This record gives sequence, C-alpha cells and structure tokens, in this order.
Amino acid sequence: MSVDLSTTFTGLRFRNPFLLSSAPPTESESNITRAFDAGWGGVVTKTIGLHPVVNVVGPKTKFLRADADSPHLSMKKRPNTALHSSWNWELISDKALDWWVPRLGRIKKAFPDHVLVASIMAGSGNDTELRHWQTLALACQNEGCDALEINLSCPHMDREDMGSNIGKDRELVSVVTKVVKEVSRVPVWAKLTPSTTDIVVEARGAFLGGADAISSSNTFTSLPLIDAETLEFEVHVDGLVSTGGLGGPAILPLSLAKMSQLTQAFPDRSFSGIGGISNFEHALSYFLLGCGTVQICTAAMLDHAVGPNVIKELTAGLTRFLEAHGDRGWTRVADFVGRHRDRIVAQSQIRRPDEKEYHGGHDGAEGYAAPEEAVRS
Ligand SMILES: Cc1cc2nc3c(=O)[nH]c(=O)nc-3n(C[C@H](O)[C@H](O)[C@H](O)COP(=O)(O)O)c2cc1C
Repeated sequence: MSVDLSTTFTGLRFRNPFLLSSAPPTESESNITRAFDAGWGGVVTKTIGLHPVVNVVGPKTKFLRADADSPHLSMKKRPNTALHSSWNWELISDKALDWWVPRLGRIKKAFPDHVLVASIMAGSGNDTELRHWQTLALACQNEGCDALEINLSCPHMDREDMGSNIGKDRELVSVVTKVVKEVSRVPVWAKLTPSTTDIVVEARGAFLGGADAISSSNTFTSLPLIDAETLEFEVHVDGLVSTGGLGGPAILPLSLAKMSQLTQAFPDRSFSGIGGISNFEHALSYFLLGCGTVQICTAAMLDHAVGPNVIKELTAGLTRFLEAHGDRGWTRVADFVGRHRDRIVAQSQIRRPDEKEYHGGHDGAEGYAAPEEAVRS
C-alpha cells in the first residue's frame, strides 16, 4: 500500500508533518534554505522582533550530558555520555524585522511548496506595543509567510511585558492573539509557555482570541548546575547567571503531559507538539496524543545545525510506521492522530489488584462491611 507523508494542518499543506522550531536552526536565510533542501516539511523562523536585541556575552546555549555509569551530570565534554538536555538563555533574533523582510520573500519564492512560518514577538504594555504585533504580522505575511507563530513563551526575555510574561496571563494571551488575528490573512499559532499551573487556562485565552493552533512546549525555566570543584555555575558571566530554558530529551515526558492536557481539553483543535523530539518514536507520542505536526530544535542543533539526519530518520520512521500499520487502514498521519488521547485518565480510574479494597484514596466507609459468617462450632 502506498503511504502519504503529507498532511494538512490549519488549512496548510505540508509535504511531511516535521518542522524545525523557532531557534538557531532557523536564524538565517542560509539555514532555512539548507533545512528545506534537507527535507523538512516546514520551518518556524527564529522569533522576529521590531528592535534588535543584545544577548549576553559568551555561549548562549550549552548541552547537559549524563554519564552512563554514574549519576554525574555536566555540560563538560567527555566520553561515554548521553544527551540529557539543552540549556539556553538566548533572546529572540538579534536581527530586526527590516533584516528579515527581504529574506522571507526570497525564501518563499525559492520554496513555494514548503511551509514558512514567521515567529513574531512584541511587548504588551501599551497600545503602541500591541500595534507592533500587527506591524510584524503584516510585514511577514506580505512577504508570503504561510502562517504566524506568536511567541508568548520565551522564558528569559528581559522585559516584563514580553515572552512568557504574556503567556502566564490568560487575558494578555487573549488580547495579543486577537490583535494579531485582526490583521492576519494567514493562520495564527500561539506558542505557549509550560511554566504555568494549568496550560489549559492560557490555551482557552488563545482560542478565545482566535488562535488557529497552539504550539507547545517552549523551554522549561531552569538553571545550570554548580560545578562542585570551581563553585561556579556551569554557564555564567562574571559569576552571575539568570534562569534560562531547558530543552531536549529531559523535557519530552514533561511536554507530553502538557500536550495531553491541551488535546483532552480541546479535542477538536489543532496542536503542534514540541519538546525533546529526536526521532520518529518521540514524534509518534505527540501524534497519538492529538498533534497534527511536531517541531524540533535541540536534536537539529546537534546535527549539522539544521538536522539533515534527523529529518531523514523522521520521514523514514513515518514511512516504516505507515507501511507496518497499513492493515489498520492508516495511510497518512491524520489516520492515527489522537488515537491515544483518551487513554490518559484520573489515577482513580486505573485498575487496582483488588478493586474491593480500593476507596479512591479515602477511608473505606465504616459500618457497611459485610458481617463475618458465624463460625459453626
Ligand atoms: C538556543 C535556543 C533558542 C531558542 N529560541 C527560540 C525563539 O527565538 N523563539 C521560540 O519560540 N522558541 C525558541 N526556542 C525554543 C525552541 O523552539 C523549542 O520550543 C524548545 O527548544 C523545545 O524543543 P526541543 O526539546 O526540541 O529543543 C529556543 C531554544 C533554544 C535551545
């Protein structure tokens, strides 16, 4: 049976459901061009703002590795280790909108059949800032971008009215989404922060504002470890560090939990899954929970900057999977999206060894126990 890797998500046709997420792999025209040549179905640009940002001195991203035979975790390069996570404190693109505009147009002309999503970010403190969102949205869609992803989730912006500070406030999420929707002709995806108590609350705000999809997760707020010998953080500038974002394998189960909350609360909506994906098996978990597309950052950063081998494995894995499950009638991603969504239930609904002994975590009711049979003498 022939398999079809293409999919439709928020009305857009993708040659495959795998995108590079907004991050260093999509920070330049040459990277995005290489990514499309390598086979990615879409890319989300590094987040574009109106004004240039200035990053901290020194490295902006480091990779934490775990030893195979000890509990040691460190960013130091050494043999016999496995990737645990990425840690970054990079801000949005250090190139502002004017730099991006001609490049977006050129990329779209060169790759009309690939999906180019512009990630955008502005503030939210006043009407002028809210209009900046519209300026960004209009400029990107006028250059042919197929969709907009509004970044409501960067965990380390230095402004109080930006990034995850918007994403933590359901009303601001709604207002910003609505403001962008007012001017956009293309689908708008809202990228939410996982750093809230109940992500369903902010997602509802985004949908009320008109969002066409939710992307989740951005990185999780985190710190680098302190080196026990030097007593310095493994990443620091002059001995100081601020919180940054954790990505990569360590966040895969965390992001899946956030995603299952979202897809269960809004089973008819569209979701793009992000967090810890390195191969098809990881992506499959997101699809089965209800995501129509997935996005990848850390694994691609570690594979020639744009993930040529990662995308090869993802498409080969999807092809193998569809071939193996042809007998179920699954010929495309849409055939199995959400199949496991309803398998996440309250703990009280999970089978116990002895159901009679289980009282939902409460004391058993007193006085209702069956009387013991009288022992016959
Ligand atoms: C160095 C770095 C820079 C990032 N920059 C952005 C950004 O500009 N905008 C954004 O929405 N997400 C940004 N992210 C978050 C990623 O797009 C992604 O949501 C996160 O890394 C989780 O995916 P992963 O586990 O595949 O890395 C960045 C991540 C890293 C590691």
